[in-house]
Amino acid sequence: MSMPPFLEPFRIKSVEPIRRMTREERGRLLEKAGFNLFLLDADDVFIDLLTDSGTGAMSAGQWSAIMNGDEAYAGASSFRRFRDAVESITGFRHVIPVHQGRAAERILFPVTCKRGSVVPSNAHFDTTRANCEFAGAEPLDLPIAEARDLSTPFPFKGNMDPAALENVIARVGSSRIPLVMLTVTNNFGGGQPVSMANIKAVKAICSRYGIPLYLDACRFAENAYFIKVREHGYADRTPREIAREMFDCADGCTMSAKKDGLVNIGGLLCTNDDAIARAAKDLLILGEGYPTYGGLAGRDLDAIAVGLNEVLEAEYLEYRVASTAYLGNTIAAAGVPIVQPPGGHAVYIDARAFLPHLPPTQFPGSALAVELYLEGGIRCFEIGTLIFGGPDPASGVEQPAPMDLVRLALPRRVYTQSHMEYVIETVLAVWRRRERIRGLELTYQAARLRHFTAQFRRLAASA
Ligand SMILES: Cc1ncc(COP(=O)(O)O)c(C=O)c1O
Repeated sequence: MSMPPFLEPFRIKSVEPIRRMTREERGRLLEKAGFNLFLLDADDVFIDLLTDSGTGAMSAGQWSAIMNGDEAYAGASSFRRFRDAVESITGFRHVIPVHQGRAAERILFPVTCKRGSVVPSNAHFDTTRANCEFAGAEPLDLPIAEARDLSTPFPFKGNMDPAALENVIARVGSSRIPLVMLTVTNNFGGGQPVSMANIKAVKAICSRYGIPLYLDACRFAENAYFIKVREHGYADRTPREIAREMFDCADGCTMSAKKDGLVNIGGLLCTNDDAIARAAKDLLILGEGYPTYGGLAGRDLDAIAVGLNEVLEAEYLEYRVASTAYLGNTIAAAGVPIVQPPGGHAVYIDARAFLPHLPPTQFPGSALAVELYLEGGIRCFEIGTLIFGGPDPASGVEQPAPMDLVRLALPRRVYTQSHMEYVIETVLAVWRRRERIRGLELTYQAARLRHFTAQFRRLAASA
């Protein structure tokens, strides 16, 4: 019997219609949105691959747990179920609920850092970086060299460079480093995992200098699964055992539950440090809520408690990683340049290599994202010159970002194999007509975070 490329380990109990419009309708909507996919109504998108955050489908088990939600202000039983689930997976002593990942960061950094602090990471996520800076600290990214080469299939491109960490400690002194962070999986480059060997190497350095190690653990289960299938010695271990070994190396974690918590909202902060926990709870009360609900409803805590257990099921993780790999490997086999290997939650297309006739100042990532919508109603996310470039302050001339990528992020348990086949066909249809794709020119940009509101016009074919 020939098996499909991946098998969804669930059946569908509740459905949500999606609408595929005509190409002409999509063309009109693109003009109206100024060729910015953020400005489309979600109803006008057929397959939405903008993000994997908070866009997953909850299970029957989670929906029924929601009915047990205890909405008491203090001491709710929902909190105990949430805390017990988190404790049993992570082993951390203090578990603090928050409304989403960045709220955990917003509390952790002011409590641990001061002006002049330095926080090394494999790569900080953008909200992590911003919250670190807001607390007066300097976030530092120390990825391994292999992470910079888009096409090499190195299995653990999310690793931190341990020698670079040693150098930073030697340069600034351990007293200025209140914590080191590891993002698992590393969102940089599309969910590339961090190996257990690397987590342990980083932990060993931290221990030598008395520096606590925290995980940004929002995709901890995907990371554990990659360790299982890619790292020697872990094939017979369960994702739960591997996840526990990862958390045992750390002194705490932040987590957006909108990813591997399998919920639409929620997050948490954990620590083994009693003083940090006390200070964090004081800040929590100021901004989020009482420590037994932390900005969430009791029912949200129950959904997270169930989701954190479901996400560690090996059949789910096998399907999850196989579906991302299927999308990535199939388009790559047809010649589409992608970041190799495909990560856990997303496939990244190298838009500069896809559209070599467009200079970065004509926004090849945004141009490709626009074509994927026009061709098939697929919405994805540009990670390139629109986000990380910008006008030079002196000359006003647009400065390109180091890379122009397009991210196809896969919501959890939402799209089926036939949706993936459709995405593949759409990408390949755009690939076949790539030489005729035109660049974009900005007609409006905000001073900050311009990608959310930018407006473009299409350049003439000869430009
Ligand atoms: C690695 C990483 N850390 C932190 C966050 C922030 O989480 P949230 O969006 O829930 O605030 C994200 C969100 O995408 C993320 O990918």
